[in-house]
Amino acid sequence: MTHPIRAMIAGTGSYAPPRRMSNTELESLVETSDQWIRERTGIHERRIADDSISCADMAAAAARSAMELACCAPEDVDVIVDATITADYLLPSNGCLVQEKLGLFNAVAFDVVAACTGFVAGLAIARGFIESGMYRKVVVIGSERLSSLTNWSDRTTCVLFGDAAGAVVLEPSENGSGILSTFMKSDGRMSEWLQIKVGGTKHPHKREFAWDGSDKIAMRGTDVFKVAVKEMGNACLKVIEQAGVKPEEVSWVVPHQANMRIIEALTKRLGIAPDKVVINVDRYGNTSSASVPLALDEANRAGRIQPGDLVLMTAFGGGLIWGAALVRW
Ligand SMILES: CC(C)(COP(=O)(O)OP(=O)(O)OC[C@H]1O[C@@H](n2cnc3c(N)ncnc32)[C@H](O)[C@@H]1OP(=O)(O)O)[C@@H](O)C(=O)NCCC(=O)NCCS
Repeated sequence: MTHPIRAMIAGTGSYAPPRRMSNTELESLVETSDQWIRERTGIHERRIADDSISCADMAAAAARSAMELACCAPEDVDVIVDATITADYLLPSNGCLVQEKLGLFNAVAFDVVAACTGFVAGLAIARGFIESGMYRKVVVIGSERLSSLTNWSDRTTCVLFGDAAGAVVLEPSENGSGILSTFMKSDGRMSEWLQIKVGGTKHPHKREFAWDGSDKIAMRGTDVFKVAVKEMGNACLKVIEQAGVKPEEVSWVVPHQANMRIIEALTKRLGIAPDKVVINVDRYGNTSSASVPLALDEANRAGRIQPGDLVLMTAFGGGLIWGAALVRW
């Protein structure tokens, strides 16, 4: 039986900075409690990068470990896609910094700005490159140093975020495994619901800037929550339908790790059993574009995901933008 060329995940990798920040530690920064954070979000702790670890450093570490698992030589990498909203610089891209750090000099590198959906967007881009025959080996990374953009005096957001990176190596497969379907959608009418107002070219930082938190992440949490559950659910159903499978055939769901209650509501709507859901929000919080590949790598290295499994990934973030990908492992 012949199969179409698909983009298969040949290796996964991740990196999380060693410093753990507990909920109790946050109690000394804002009026909150360990109990509130656990009950409302499911988060117990998050990782915070110290000054010596940049976003590109984390991205390179994750990509290196994915390449090792995929037995991928540096000269074989054709494309590096780094999904991030916290790149080291506005210019050049984080992808080019990763290219330099890992010596991937036969590749083209660029960034994708799609907030927490960035990694899923990167998968969709890589799928197009590989299925069209344009490129063979694509490294897709999600890397975030959200602690740099967190407003540490806003209790409604600072308890949610953490730093990390995750990555995969994609290559062509002809045995039926690989990405079966992808879906993405955005709605810019809700762009202000999750936003960093100051620091771009419209409202640049000023020297005499009176700090009001507007150069950090601000969010209408409850509104975002509702759209996230609805649209991630719709995106998942779309990729399941496109692939011609049924929700009950899904072996693993790897959802964006934003909030335990979002994950529970999503999987309940999909009718997928809780023991098929990969969760690490308790240990890392929301790491934006790193969230899905970090959870995927943990599940893969723990031997939970096996060849032939159907793996459903989904994410949602500022834009607003959301998406899903279904992969035959
Ligand atoms: C942010 C979020 C955890 C807040 O949970 P919630 O149940 O919606 O809580 P609310 O915002 O309604 O706030 C309830 C109360 O808790 C308070 N509160 C908010 N953050 C708090 C904190 N860290 N500690 C203690 N109390 C807090 C609020 O001020 C509010 O108090 P009030 O009733 O006196 O006004 C939740 O909305 C969420 O997860 N949203 C999605 C966020 C997300 O993941 N976005 C990223 C998508 S990529």
